[in-house]
Amino acid sequence: MSEKGRFILGIETSCDETAAAIVKDGTTIVSNVVASQIESHKRFGGVVPEIASRHHVEEITLVVEEALRQAEVTMEEIDAIAVTEGPGLVGALLIGVNAAKAIAFAHGKPLVGVHHIAGHIYANRLVKELTFPLVSLVVSGGHTELVYMKEHGHFKVIGETRDDAAGEAYDKVARTLKLPYPGGPHIDRLAQVGSPSIDLPRAWLEEGSYDFSFSGLKSAVINTLHNAKQKGQQILPEDVAASFQASVIDVLVEKTKRATLEYGVKQVLLAGGVAANKGLRARLEETFHEMPDVDLVIPPLFLCTDNAAMIAAVGTVMFEKGYRSGLDLNGNPGLDIEATNKLFTCE
Ligand code: KG4
Ligand code: ZN
Repeated sequence: MSEKGRFILGIETSCDETAAAIVKDGTTIVSNVVASQIESHKRFGGVVPEIASRHHVEEITLVVEEALRQAEVTMEEIDAIAVTEGPGLVGALLIGVNAAKAIAFAHGKPLVGVHHIAGHIYANRLVKELTFPLVSLVVSGGHTELVYMKEHGHFKVIGETRDDAAGEAYDKVARTLKLPYPGGPHIDRLAQVGSPSIDLPRAWLEEGSYDFSFSGLKSAVINTLHNAKQKGQQILPEDVAASFQASVIDVLVEKTKRATLEYGVKQVLLAGGVAANKGLRARLEETFHEMPDVDLVIPPLFLCTDNAAMIAAVGTVMFEKGYRSGLDLNGNPGLDIEATNKLFTCE
């Protein structure tokens, strides 16, 4: 470690953003470069894996160089390279993993493979120091989970979606309303001006369960639109958006609140792309305002969507705990976040 501090280079290519960042001491962003591919995937209504891989190949070197340049840090001053190992699109993950391995090998630096969702959770540490135990509501395009953490680097999934992820449900409902991809921000915008006047289901599941389910809600929205069309009735898209959003938020916030009470946590973190949702942010703030003993942390929008600063942040903790990946590191699309817990037992 240089006298300036511990610098970790983070690399993220799990989906449709090619990103590199440098984080100092696990808490301070020194540079954070993201090349988004959204424009290339928009006309297909979703991420096309082959196109994503091709863009990552074209961008990765430029993005890493730019992260170093903006940080005014040399490769010699970097303590380790952290890279998203999984989950994600396998072809996309491989570009980041191979770039990280090449850099680690060429410069003789330690390599640390990290879990993408652990990254989303650690985006919060770039805002505020974590206090344990904590619970994190992770809501992204591919994941909806409640993760309990008793200490740094230790993750326990206490609830997860049984079908669609929250972001996926947003994107599918948006497509039904003929809104562009990614649909989440469009539904959010419409929901602000609509009225939640349509009665839609809330999937609470069994008593005490922290799991989620959004596919029934998605079908209910499609049926409502279909029935209205058959009867020649007009339904305002903003009312559909507001009603859908109210149903999603009711369940997400209520389950987070219950987990907070049951597990006696000190801090609640919001993570993932859907954390950008204005309605969700406002409702969480309202709810936890009434629980002053619990510290609610909501990251700024640029840290909610995919970025590499969050990968460097979790990579720092794993590096400090002594975890190292070998040069045989592979992209792992099905990587389990709880597997991370076992990595430290050999310390
Ligand atoms: O975490 P993320 O950037 O990528 C994954 O790892 O999945 O999340 C992307 C998801 C998309 O489904 C997008 O529609 C959703 O986050 N999203 C939103 C909002 N902004 C992005 N969903 C609801 N409201 C938003 N404002
Ligand atoms: Zn993500």
